[in-house]
Amino acid sequence: MSTEGDGAGAAAVSATAAAAAEEAAPVEDVAPKPAPAEAAQPSLRCLVLTGFGGYEKVKLQRRPAAPLAPGPGQLSLRVRACGLNFSDLFARQGVHDHLPPLPLTPGIEGAGEVVAVGEGVADRKVGDRVMVLTRWGMWQEEVTVPAAHTFLMPEAMSFEEAAALLANYMTAYMVLFDFGNLRPGHSVLVHMAAGGVGMAALQLCRTVENVTVFGTASASKHEVLREQGVAHPIDYHTSDYVEEIRKISPRGVDIVMDPLGGSDTAKGYSLLKPMGRLITYGVANMMTGPKRNLMAIARTWWNQFSVTAQQLLQSNRAVCGFYLGALEEDQELLRGVVTRLLALYSQGHIKPRIDSVWPFEKVTDAMRQLQEKKNVGKVILVPGPEKEN
Ligand SMILES: NC(=O)c1ccc[n+]([C@@H]2O[C@H](COP(=O)([O-])OP(=O)(O)OC[C@H]3O[C@@H](n4cnc5c(N)ncnc54)[C@H](OP(=O)(O)O)[C@@H]3O)[C@@H](O)[C@H]2O)c1
Repeated sequence: MSTEGDGAGAAAVSATAAAAAEEAAPVEDVAPKPAPAEAAQPSLRCLVLTGFGGYEKVKLQRRPAAPLAPGPGQLSLRVRACGLNFSDLFARQGVHDHLPPLPLTPGIEGAGEVVAVGEGVADRKVGDRVMVLTRWGMWQEEVTVPAAHTFLMPEAMSFEEAAALLANYMTAYMVLFDFGNLRPGHSVLVHMAAGGVGMAALQLCRTVENVTVFGTASASKHEVLREQGVAHPIDYHTSDYVEEIRKISPRGVDIVMDPLGGSDTAKGYSLLKPMGRLITYGVANMMTGPKRNLMAIARTWWNQFSVTAQQLLQSNRAVCGFYLGALEEDQELLRGVVTRLLALYSQGHIKPRIDSVWPFEKVTDAMRQLQEKKNVGKVILVPGPEKEN
């Protein structure tokens, strides 16, 4: 595998390297045994979620390569890189609300080359490099998706960067600018600040003048956070971030990005200045290890934040909920966000930070990197053979 950046990402690589050989996902052949004449028929590799539970539930399999036949409005692409997201971990644990029946290929985003276009697709052609945001199914060598879910990649962008852009930056952008109304002089609390969405948020905060960022993350990641513009990194393992923020800014902050849920939503709300906004967009507190933890789920649910309209009215605060997956029908809205993000990319204001790149065989290590809180930036999967640094 290859890593970019330093610190936690690189350390994680050596820590997991010894286990990698043993834990590489076994390749299963799901195609019927070929007759001798058909033996040369190519097959495609895909990662498949075969059941709910720990890392071993995601298996590397092969399927026969069917002739490409994208339907009307669809295109097929050769996948070069895919993003690993929290939603993939929740899917594996069986706690994702919007999951189709198993077996299922995970992966909501990726990038690759167009190899066939269906009827009625006028703005894409074979050879185009595109990035994709879709429901599931990206973790395979070849995939067919609605053309409307694809975006042309800038020439300078690598497939790894493209696979790291959509879910993280669209979420960060819409949370900060659409709901958060980020303006010069504002202060923002970014949780999981060294993660995929967190890093995207830090870069986007730097596009606005004089924004003060408080960022929570494990202590080993604080140097990177400072480099990325976090004025006040906070180790939430060893200190109470509410107290720390109050010491520095007694009136609190203008925007709280809340990917944690449970009791942290109420804490975030308590930190809002008058006219402040809390945007909740995740429930990471439900996850404590590789397998579903019913106690953590119950605790997160029990500690859910609730507020009445009357309380909101009297407190001059706003609480918003954001879920990118539920905006699938709003393609015009999403396209506008991607256009603005690509402009920021071209101007050099944003650049996805890749934590590590793992071949499909090492999907277990890739998932562990995120789950064990080791990543600094985005974790990427590639279908091809292991890449040299
Ligand atoms: N609503 C939406 O549309 C949407 C879209 C994308 C992502 N999200 C949410 O955004 C959050 C970030 O997602 P991401 O994919 O970018 O992941 P990520 O931030 O890269 O996640 C990994 C990092 O999160 C931190 N973390 C905090 N609590 C954790 C826990 N219980 N388990 C594991 N790691 C934990 C860890 O770093 P430290 O402990 O060092 O901080 C870890 O390195 C998630 O809550 C996700 O569900 C929501």
